[in-house]
Amino acid sequence: MLIDRLREYGQTDYYPFHMPGHKRQIKMGITSFPNPFSVDITEIEGFDNLHHAEGILRASMDYAASVYGSDRSWYLVNGSTGGILSAICAAVNPGEKILMARNSHKAAYNAVAVHRLAPVYVYPDVIKELGIQGGVRPEAVKAVLEREKNIKCIYITSPTYEGIVSDVREIAQLAHRHGILLIVDEAHGAHFPFGESFPESALDCGADIVIQSLHKTLPSLTQTAIMHLKSSLISPEQVERYLTVFQSSSPSYVFLSSIDACVRYMAGRGKEDVKRYEERLSRFYNRIERLENLKYLDDRICGKYGVYGRDPSKLVFFPPAFLKADSGPELASVLREKYHLEAEMACCSYALFMTSLMDTEEGFERLLQALYEIDAQTVQAAGAAQDGSKEIPVPSAAVKIPADAWCREGEKVLLSHAAGRISGTFVVVYPPGIPLLVPGERIDSQMTEQIEKNRQLGITVEGIDGDSIRVLL
Ligand SMILES: Cc1ncc(COP(=O)(O)O)c(C=O)c1O
Repeated sequence: MLIDRLREYGQTDYYPFHMPGHKRQIKMGITSFPNPFSVDITEIEGFDNLHHAEGILRASMDYAASVYGSDRSWYLVNGSTGGILSAICAAVNPGEKILMARNSHKAAYNAVAVHRLAPVYVYPDVIKELGIQGGVRPEAVKAVLEREKNIKCIYITSPTYEGIVSDVREIAQLAHRHGILLIVDEAHGAHFPFGESFPESALDCGADIVIQSLHKTLPSLTQTAIMHLKSSLISPEQVERYLTVFQSSSPSYVFLSSIDACVRYMAGRGKEDVKRYEERLSRFYNRIERLENLKYLDDRICGKYGVYGRDPSKLVFFPPAFLKADSGPELASVLREKYHLEAEMACCSYALFMTSLMDTEEGFERLLQALYEIDAQTVQAAGAAQDGSKEIPVPSAAVKIPADAWCREGEKVLLSHAAGRISGTFVVVYPPGIPLLVPGERIDSQMTEQIEKNRQLGITVEGIDGDSIRVLL
């Protein structure tokens, strides 16, 4: 049974440098959480209705709004995904244009698909020497706004999975000068308002709608998230209309009480725990300065590549060719097998470790000692680092509305024969969940190579069926 496997795993010494942010600590930062079955109810008298909250849930969400400084906040029980779908569909009518960063999570593309939107992309800078996306430059957003007429809203992700923050304040001002709203996917930044060493939250920078996954970086159960509105450009009723479409009509009270407890804890006693966590992080960064071969992301990246700020809670390591040329998955695998440390994700060139205020001193120490050992072996195994420019292929759109390509007749062809064809599907590397290909985009040989490379490294690539991909006739 699944539960037996989970219980067994929970009793091992594998340490989670991944979500959820509660790090499997039963305390959840509050008081001990009861057996979930004993508090799992439905919308009975006195317990309100999330789709039409007027009682205990409304009071709890209004309290959350006061903590975050929003006009309204809503609890989300199917992750940021439900919030992103609702926000985009509420802000942009079918057939209209949305200016979105091409490095958006698949949830945003699903909104584009179900609402038949016409995306106009802005491309974040690429940090070529590291093979990751930088920030979205306000100048790039401005250029698109000046070029394209009738854009209804701007959508960006800040921070990215790797913790890269864009200049949200400037982008919000641009949006407002054009009379349109800015939606920010801050799924990875729910902790931002609660610590001094974290970047400023998008809501405080003037974004109109901000979506945060509590479960990613704070002590709350998986699937729990929150959406904030602070805007005169869209009504709460319009947003709520879509929340009732994209959220379950039987929301889990276990999830809802986890959100309520998390927000209250963060607004209260959690503040002290955040301070201790920030000190731990700061000590960790000081001590990794001793690493000689493993590169890592730090604040030196700020001010370049459109990077306005960086979230220190994300520990991102770029191994040189210590076993293979692209050794992110290799690093994650050695840490798992030999040291029982589980990374959040590994891409071609890096491995990412997620931390939260629930991480222990011991957890940080184990990671540090493992990295020191690997760093020393890297010299013996590979000698010189194999650096170089890592391009990220940028496909061009042949069909303006992805939904049109998604619904159009297609055929399956071998990936190796797909160059030159137009994609009839999303191809998504997971994690991080950003589409390499969107329906309607032209496939080239650089793209097929990139997809193959990810597959060979054992990274999950959604949208490829066996060795085939759906293309348009
Ligand atoms: C940038 C980003 N946005 C949105 C999401 C979706 O969040 P959730 O899993 O809470 O639905 C993710 C998930 O990994 C993400 O990385």
